[in-house]
Amino acid sequence: MTRSSPGPARLWLRLCWSCCCLLAAVEGRLFTAKLWSVRAGLGGFEPGDAAPAFSVSTLDGEFSYPPKDSSSSSSSSSLRPALIIHAFTNKSAFLEVLWTSNMSLSDLAEFLPPSAQVLFISMDDSAAEQALWMREQVYGAAGSRWKEIRSRLHFSPVPLHMLGNWIPRVFYSWGCGGHNCGLAQVVFTSSEWSVPVISKRLNARYDWLNGRWDPKPYVLAEAGDGCKPVPEVAGVVAWVSEGGCSFFTKIKTMSESNATGVLVYASPGNPIQDMNCVGDECNTTLNIPAAMLHIEPAVVEALSKGKSVNVSFQVTPSPNFFFAIDHQGALAEMGWFLYPTFRFLSWQAEWFDFYTGLLEQAKKPADVVPVFDRVLMQGEAGAQAVVDLPPDLLRYDVLELDAALSCPGLRDETCAHWDHTVQLFVCCDRFSPHCNQELGRWITAFRRGTGRWLTDVSPLLALLNGERCSLTMKTVPWAMPWMTSLNLRFSYSNSSGNSSENLYPFKLVSLYNGGTFDRDYNKRFQEIKFDIPASAKKVELYAVITGHGSDDNACCEFCVTSHFFSVNGIYNNSRIFDSAGSALGCALRVGEGGVPNEHGTWLYGRGGWCDGLQVNPWRIDITPQVNMGGTNTILYFGLFDGRNPNPARDPGYIIMYSYLIFYK
Ligand SMILES: *[C@@H]1O[C@H](CO)[C@@H](O)[C@H](O)[C@H]1NC(C)=O
Ligand SMILES: *[C@@H]1O[C@H](CO)[C@@H](O)[C@H](O)[C@H]1NC(C)=O
Ligand SMILES: *[C@@H]1O[C@H](CO)[C@@H](O)[C@H](O)[C@H]1NC(C)=O
Ligand SMILES: *[C@@H]1O[C@H](CO)[C@@H](O)[C@H](O)[C@H]1NC(C)=O
Ligand SMILES: *[C@@H]1O[C@H](CO)[C@@H](O)[C@H](O)[C@H]1NC(C)=O
Ligand SMILES: *[C@@H]1O[C@H](CO)[C@@H](O)[C@H](O)[C@H]1NC(C)=O
Ligand SMILES: *[C@@H]1O[C@H](CO)[C@@H](O)[C@H](O)[C@H]1NC(C)=O
Ligand SMILES: *[C@@H]1O[C@H](CO)[C@@H](O)[C@H](O)[C@H]1NC(C)=O
Repeated sequence: MTRSSPGPARLWLRLCWSCCCLLAAVEGRLFTAKLWSVRAGLGGFEPGDAAPAFSVSTLDGEFSYPPKDSSSSSSSSSLRPALIIHAFTNKSAFLEVLWTSNMSLSDLAEFLPPSAQVLFISMDDSAAEQALWMREQVYGAAGSRWKEIRSRLHFSPVPLHMLGNWIPRVFYSWGCGGHNCGLAQVVFTSSEWSVPVISKRLNARYDWLNGRWDPKPYVLAEAGDGCKPVPEVAGVVAWVSEGGCSFFTKIKTMSESNATGVLVYASPGNPIQDMNCVGDECNTTLNIPAAMLHIEPAVVEALSKGKSVNVSFQVTPSPNFFFAIDHQGALAEMGWFLYPTFRFLSWQAEWFDFYTGLLEQAKKPADVVPVFDRVLMQGEAGAQAVVDLPPDLLRYDVLELDAALSCPGLRDETCAHWDHTVQLFVCCDRFSPHCNQELGRWITAFRRGTGRWLTDVSPLLALLNGERCSLTMKTVPWAMPWMTSLNLRFSYSNSSGNSSENLYPFKLVSLYNGGTFDRDYNKRFQEIKFDIPASAKKVELYAVITGHGSDDNACCEFCVTSHFFSVNGIYNNSRIFDSAGSALGCALRVGEGGVPNEHGTWLYGRGGWCDGLQVNPWRIDITPQVNMGGTNTILYFGLFDGRNPNPARDPGYIIMYSYLIFYK
């Protein structure tokens, strides 16, 4: 990080106090006051509510919402920017690191979408200095990007509790219960002191150490820099200075000395850091909790005098640190920040862009059959509906599923835990072999209720072999409830404007399903022979494949599996889930609709799926691989590491629906 101040910073502050446009501010406040005074009382705003207009003094003058310059008269398509509002307090070690880590700050400069703006406010009394400091921090990390990004970042020198508008109400009433929310602290006690010494802390990276702080008090022992074994730390928490060796080496060494936990303190003047392993260090599991904090002179002194010091761990609740206003002007939660980087802020903003695009797509002409409108999905039955299809289905060559999952309440805290598979089954003729085949698949967003997805399942028009169909959407019966919404959208592709190219899926043959991914996995699959109907012009392979469970190779959720459909013994059509287990495999799919900032490890890549996302069908035109006049064969097999799976324990499983689709 850099602490050098950009030359003109202080000048800007002075200018802003004189130049702000008072009249507009007063008018704005009168207007917004009317809107939100009706909400007097303790009740706050809820996610989804329309955000009233407001203005806030900033280092550059004044920030008004909606921004005055955003949708300048001309085009109706120009969109309101998404606005993220961040309330900083240096009482949180997590926020201190968010604002001092080079990676976090450069993530802000690099990844904040151009469509998003950010308003930074401090909760501390030194808000004016902190506003300047925050701007300097971004300036120092942004480098050449500063010029582009600065107009979208707004720094308020007025602290949160003095804003006088509705913004504090949202921060206070939404509170902060999630990961890295609230004020995580270490409490030191010693017979030397009449009051405890309480210090902010940041635990080591969420997915690194396998250890948790107990609520009970621990005894603390001096351990130097922790780079060499210290027998005195056996059974107690090691007090370790930064530097000398890596965080990994310190914590591993202290763990080998049988410490029950590690507290690493920053050297005077240094910020707290996000302790994590690097590279091969991460291959070693360490079963010990650790946290970083500032040096506490009273603790150093007591330990050096040989006085006993106890330590315990607590989290004091705080207002929320973030909320947002989306492009549609609705208030929105920001989810969990799993570790201190502004990338989480950017992911949420990326999702707002995705969602706006989705709303545009959902406006395209289509014949819409409503199926569910916030219907409870729970238990064995799931959500069920019977719908009439539009007449003359062969007019359509596009079928899209417009699906959304929300929660029983308005807040994410009411949303179901875990990432479970959701499947949609359809039956239009209960005597048909196609009855209750899978029409769509999604994975729930772990404790976030904003998911909405538009999935093209056009080839499965061939499953709709009746006028009235029953649809069932369900997840595992033990999952907490979701509210599901679903529309079927029928339309024409017509993109080429060449109607003779529009082919209709008229016939479908079911192929393989998955199963337990063990050494017998591939023995279950026999070659299937098929003929091509005389009128068919095109043959497509369609498969929806996801891997779940965790054997000794982390299969099939986090291992790389490959899936093959061999046509006529000559053509290998293969799909490899090569991002499974990668650090950001799913985070990089937020732009496709993956719900960001979920609870749990939503960022990692997975076997063909992501939390909070639809499962994309795999489609391959195999017309050139088949003999249109004669008999053909197809055979599926699935491999791990290029071989038959052979797990030593707890085999995982593959969920698969696969079809041949014939078009005319
Ligand atoms: C952060 O960036 C500054 C300036 O770019 C550099 O001096 C400092 O060493 C960096 N710190 C780390 C931990 O990379
Ligand atoms: C935050 O707190 C730390 C120690 O508590 C201090 O060293 C640092 O200067 C503070 N930063 C700001 C911006 O207030
Ligand atoms: C420290 O904790 C131990 C138990 O773990 C307790 O017996 C002792 O009284 C505590 N000392 C102080 C100063 O809190
Ligand atoms: C840690 O505990 C183990 C098992 O009790 C013991 O064998 C080992 O010697 C201890 N290590 C140290 C450095 O005290
Ligand atoms: C650590 O794990 C990675 C990925 O599994 C592997 O490529 C690497 O060789 C391992 N390193 C060591 C030192 O075992
Ligand atoms: C299909 O494309 C043609 C030519 O681009 C256009 O005139 C027509 O309106 C389109 N039809 C539909 C249903 O989109
Ligand atoms: C339309 O598609 C057909 C079949 O692919 C092709 O033969 C024909 O040339 C196309 N016509 C135009 C105008 O692109
Ligand atoms: C298809 O792939 C499998 C697995 O890599 C391989 O064993 C087989 O020989 C391939 N077949 C063809 C025809 O390429």
